Amino acid sequence: MMLALGSDHVGLALKEEIKQHLDEKGIPYKDYGCISTERTNYPIYGQKVAKAVVSGECEKGLLFCGTGVGISIAANKMKGVRAVVCSDCYTAVLSRQHNNTNILALGSRVVGVDLAKMIIDGWLNAEFEGGRHETRVDMIRKVEEGNDLSE
Ligand code: RB5
Repeated sequence: MMLALGSDHVGLALKEEIKQHLDEKGIPYKDYGCISTERTNYPIYGQKVAKAVVSGECEKGLLFCGTGVGISIAANKMKGVRAVVCSDCYTAVLSRQHNNTNILALGSRVVGVDLAKMIIDGWLNAEFEGGRHETRVDMIRKVEEGNDLSE
């Protein structure tokens, strides 16, 4: 499983810690930037990782900014992306099991390194349950395509 990683300058340090964690676990990844602490703009990296996931270049993505909010919103603007911002393990796991999330965003100003690792491990190990949840994810796709669900 290839992961796409991206961060702005605020999320960079956490992303570097997580790269080390992934290395230790033997999980491959591609880093789509940023690569320095020079101030930049999170939508750039949200879009890069979203593109990598939607194109199939990478299976899932991890995003990091100050809160995880801006970068996840940017990623979610791309068709096919289901990005979740999490600061707890329960939400991360359920977001895989029920919502089939394909990108996880974390806030470097919100979670510590150890909690971030636990959230990521839980998210990566959880499987989509399908069934009634598939129906709902399909409905999200319909919303994405401009359909009115009330019709
Ligand atoms: C950058 O200052 C900050 O706004 C960004 O990292 C992120 O928290 C946005 O949602």
